[in-house]
Amino acid sequence: MRPSTSLSKRKVWQGFTQCITFLLSGPRHALGTVQSRPPTSAHFQLIQLKDIHKAFGQKRVLDGFTLDVPEGETTVIIGYSGTGKSVAIKHIVGLLEPDSGEVWVDGQNVPELPRRELYALRSHIGYVFQFAALFDSFNIGENVAMGLRKQGELDEREISERVDEALDLVDLPDVRDRYPAELSGGMRKRVGIARAIALRPKYILYDEPTTGLDPVTSAVIDQLMVRMREKLHVTGVVITHDMRSAYTVGTRIAMLYEGRVRFDGTIAEIQQTTDPIVRQFIEGKPTVDEQGVPGAVAAPV
Ligand SMILES: Nc1ncnc2c1ncn2[C@@H]1O[C@H](COP(=O)(O)OP(=O)(O)OP(=O)(O)O)[C@@H](O)[C@H]1O
Ligand SMILES: [Mg+2]
Repeated sequence: MRPSTSLSKRKVWQGFTQCITFLLSGPRHALGTVQSRPPTSAHFQLIQLKDIHKAFGQKRVLDGFTLDVPEGETTVIIGYSGTGKSVAIKHIVGLLEPDSGEVWVDGQNVPELPRRELYALRSHIGYVFQFAALFDSFNIGENVAMGLRKQGELDEREISERVDEALDLVDLPDVRDRYPAELSGGMRKRVGIARAIALRPKYILYDEPTTGLDPVTSAVIDQLMVRMREKLHVTGVVITHDMRSAYTVGTRIAMLYEGRVRFDGTIAEIQQTTDPIVRQFIEGKPTVDEQGVPGAVAAPV
């Protein structure tokens, strides 16, 4: 079932407030040491979510969610709507805290980080929010520059160059002086991506970057994500429902189901899996086949 309009609005609002929290995280130059502890080889340079449990009131969303995001790869997270994909990646940047479990990024346990160190960590993670979440009263150039200003590392001329470069990369060279309300949904989405890549981040988390875009624009965004990995060696996490996109951009695919990772493997492995729940999802079947799990019904996307 598609989310109702009011639910969608609530989600947009939640996304927007979290985007503000994320972008207004303090300036990087005000920070002292970035590491809360010396990294160990097991934790260094990657993202690990370990046995995460997260509930909202009575509703258990994550129930033992474990995922490694290897450096230099793009890990795609798939799963039915409302299963907790966005909730999972919000833990990576400390927008949500787990009820239990650990979230490691570059050897730092995110839930334990003091606020300043958390802000420092966020400054090298690009986050493409599911609902773009642009600031309506700022023009596009200012929206894209926002994270760079918070980083506090570049002068105005350098920021301006970075903004132009990022908008060029998403194929929107002429929108700098326009306002979010003047752009289509797809254009706003691309501005959200520009804002993330302008930071030249080590990691980018893309929450449904192509949902709602036409096939050609989706393909352009897919190629951009591939380029970010291949040319700039950015480690990526991509949430998507679009299997074509998943196969194009992903080096690994993880499926979230009932609060935990049901499948985690390469593209070749997922294409060969015999798990009926995974097959149903990747093939977009309305019901599980005869080997399906008893009682399982087609869950809506
Ligand atoms: N801040 C919050 N407070 C309360 N409930 C929340 C909050 N954030 C998410 N949820 C709930 O957690 C569940 C998972 O939400 P989430 O947004 O992660 O789903 P999703 O897998 O990203 O879905 P979609 O594919 O539709 O984006 C939903 O039931 C949602 O209502
Ligand atoms: Mg989501």
